[in-house]
Amino acid sequence: MGDVAKIETKHRRMVSEIPHPASQAVIDELSKLEPRSMAGFSSVVWNKAEGFQVWDGHGNQWLDFTSAIILTNAGHSHPKIAQAIRDQLDTHLFYSYCNPTEIRLKTVKAIIEILPPYLDKVFLLSTGTEAVEAALKLSRMHGQTIAPGKIHILSYYNSFHGRTMAAQTVGGFLDQQEWMGEKPGGFHHIPFPECAFCPWGKPKYENCGAECLERSLEQLREQGVQDDLFAGVITETFQGPTVAFMPPDYAHALREWANKHKALLIFDEEQAAFGRTGRWFGFEHYGVEADLICLGKGITSSLPMSAVAGRSAILDLPEHGEMSSTHTGNPLCCAATIANINTIQEDGLLANAAALEPVMQRSLEDLRERFPGYAGGHNGKGLAWGVYILDPVTRQLNPNVAQSVITRCMELGLLMLPTGARGTLKIAPPLCITEEALLEGIEVIEQALAECIGES
Ligand SMILES: Cc1ncc(COP(=O)(O)O)c(C=O)c1O
Repeated sequence: MGDVAKIETKHRRMVSEIPHPASQAVIDELSKLEPRSMAGFSSVVWNKAEGFQVWDGHGNQWLDFTSAIILTNAGHSHPKIAQAIRDQLDTHLFYSYCNPTEIRLKTVKAIIEILPPYLDKVFLLSTGTEAVEAALKLSRMHGQTIAPGKIHILSYYNSFHGRTMAAQTVGGFLDQQEWMGEKPGGFHHIPFPECAFCPWGKPKYENCGAECLERSLEQLREQGVQDDLFAGVITETFQGPTVAFMPPDYAHALREWANKHKALLIFDEEQAAFGRTGRWFGFEHYGVEADLICLGKGITSSLPMSAVAGRSAILDLPEHGEMSSTHTGNPLCCAATIANINTIQEDGLLANAAALEPVMQRSLEDLRERFPGYAGGHNGKGLAWGVYILDPVTRQLNPNVAQSVITRCMELGLLMLPTGARGTLKIAPPLCITEEALLEGIEVIEQALAECIGES
């Protein structure tokens, strides 16, 4: 990373080389003390983040299209969330284990209030991967109330659900699973219905959602995995790197299949919930009911908190002591959750995300028109967007160009999510972003793409 031209706009300020030498010292020392896997995320040493902006300690200021990792939906360091955490500190209750607390009660009530009414119980945890593990456990327990051996779980290639053993096994990046040596049994993946890259090679979508699901299931049947063996199916509401949503008719077919075979339908909403798509929960766009949903990330816009929400009949399957956690309902995280939900409501962030959807749609259409060889289309709703970066000759995803655009954006004062290796650009700013800032960021992407393909 070399010198950076000085940049000063309303939302960006680049005044030093990146990383600043003092930042590089921090990066170098961390790499000596932490595992290799923690290095290489970025050359920006975060010092302060507010609203939709991030600063290092050396006068550089970035516009943030990442929400850190699609987490700070209400905005970084929102004053109301900060105050709620401070107020909770002042009560001198920082930790309470599973002992009942008023703040835990208020938290589950606040979540239940925004859930569809049939999802009437919530179990609080700390990380997204734990929420997924809990949902898988509940599904297998439920399956076995119906038939012994009804424990199999269906999920999707190219999905991400966390890094613990079952969460990673159910995830669909098989290249990330080699470390296991031997994988736990009973997990089966099928292609996600991502129409831009149709798993069945169809040139375009033709109301073929039900057929798409049936073809995948037929392949499993041919391998001896019969539908009635499934305890559940889990899907990200939209796929992480591409922000591809299922066609609604696919989601309906999946719901019908789950009903027919008494399998639970689980939406992993860790990226999609809390206003990200212009609604409280992303799966609401599909018009189908969920049996369980996994929540995390944007649940606090700050401190670690996650949850599984579902119907009582399912959440009540474990006996006393069979499903709990050391950090369930941590009071500080609870305070952040309640304040976050109130803030999203009071600041009108669902409406802001929904209102900016057409702005994103138009801007990304313009990007495609300006770079027809490279910008190969986009997916998204609200303020979650994925742009395919293609090789103009092969029309396949182009990780090299995507990665160099992301790096160049960082040098130009725009933080982007690390989806380069998957050949996409992902845009997910805090939901408090203004139209002006959003358009400034898109212009940076255009400039970076032009430079990276030698068109500037
Ligand atoms: C859809 C989804 N599920 C689960 C997880 C895992 O969450 P955590 O990193 O909090 O364990 C993530 C994290 O990126 C995610 O995006």
